[in-house]
Amino acid sequence: MYIKAFILYHLSWIASAAAYHRQPQMMNEKQSSSVIFPLSGNVYPEGYYYVTINIGRPPKPYFLDIDTGSDLTWLQCDAPCKKCTPAPHNLYKPNRNLITCQDPICTSLHGPGKHHTCQTPEEQCDYEVEYADHGSSLGVLVKDSFPLKFSNGSAVAPLLAFGCGYDQEVIDASHVPYTDGVLGLGIGKSSILAQLRDMGLTRNVVGHCLSRQGGGYLLFGDGFLPTSGIVWAPIMSQSKYYSLGSADLWLGGQAANIKGLQIVFDSGSTYSYFSSQAYNYLVSLMRDNLNGNQLKDAVEDRSLPICWKGAEPFKSIRDAVGYFKPLVLSFKNVEFQVQPEAYLIVTVHGNVCLGILDGGEVGLGNLNVIGDISMQDKMVIYDNERQQIGWAPSNCNSHPKSQ
Ligand SMILES: *[C@@H]1O[C@H](CO)[C@@H](O)[C@H](O)[C@H]1NC(C)=O
Repeated sequence: MYIKAFILYHLSWIASAAAYHRQPQMMNEKQSSSVIFPLSGNVYPEGYYYVTINIGRPPKPYFLDIDTGSDLTWLQCDAPCKKCTPAPHNLYKPNRNLITCQDPICTSLHGPGKHHTCQTPEEQCDYEVEYADHGSSLGVLVKDSFPLKFSNGSAVAPLLAFGCGYDQEVIDASHVPYTDGVLGLGIGKSSILAQLRDMGLTRNVVGHCLSRQGGGYLLFGDGFLPTSGIVWAPIMSQSKYYSLGSADLWLGGQAANIKGLQIVFDSGSTYSYFSSQAYNYLVSLMRDNLNGNQLKDAVEDRSLPICWKGAEPFKSIRDAVGYFKPLVLSFKNVEFQVQPEAYLIVTVHGNVCLGILDGGEVGLGNLNVIGDISMQDKMVIYDNERQQIGWAPSNCNSHPKSQ
């Protein structure tokens, strides 16, 4: 399981203020267009969703883990590579187009000037990102061309900044995403979307639709959004993440007495996480609800911390969901529904396991993370223009048509 969230750069307090104080440029609706990418991957057994992005001249394809929990996009890179993990494609070979340490993208990564010493203006921009699962990537920022096909028919190949990562640390080497890197879709100025926005190519809006059957699609821009059915909640100001104000948790229509949860949406996290107190309370409520039915603890199944077995092994999630109740996160004006399918998995051993984990155990503290599992079969839209997140139930197997 992966939690590609919460970059702690050398300085963990980085420049969220910079992102917020940026004056929004007026953008002509007609000049801004959208891009749609098919996704691959799934929650179980793969544990991540990824997109194929073409980069370079001539362009070569790379598989990138989509991550709304962090900003910087990076590729495993032959700089040469000091420590790279097995990847589906050859390592990216950087051209000589380095980002210098005075470039605004570099400054945005390192915070407003303080700790990053820039001795000469031509100096390269080093980066280091560390994720909540303690994996990390270290390297240097480069620029290369990203050929994109926009929904209005135009093909554009802007030069975008990203990380050339030549030293990747992983915690569990037997369980690393089999990708070439990470596509950072977070709030910060270094994200690909913020760069495209600054060039006037698209609005800083990201959408994803993760299918329960695997795959789905990813959107840049706001051209393919459903015209109705989306509910919106404001992103908390000053936050470095896609963080929504506090929510109360309901289980099966009953108030679960879990209130004021601070919720973060993060496509780089496979599962969802609740703070220890909320998690323990939820698990005991679920156990009470399961009392007296045929499900038994399956402690021998180590797929996830809590698993249950039925009288017969479950063949699919459909056989198991009847034992469980839907969860609802209730925000001030809107609700985020989590059907049992969006918090359970059925393992290869035929058991059903809880896909909500104890965030306290992995150092997430009071944050509650909505990961891939709970965003399946929903269109989820991160609108950095209006600082809001929207969602709507959706069939993620078919791509939307341009509107
Ligand atoms: C299509 O959209 C792209 C990206 O926003 C823009 O650069 C281009 O000018 C647009 N083309 C037309 C014909 O409107």
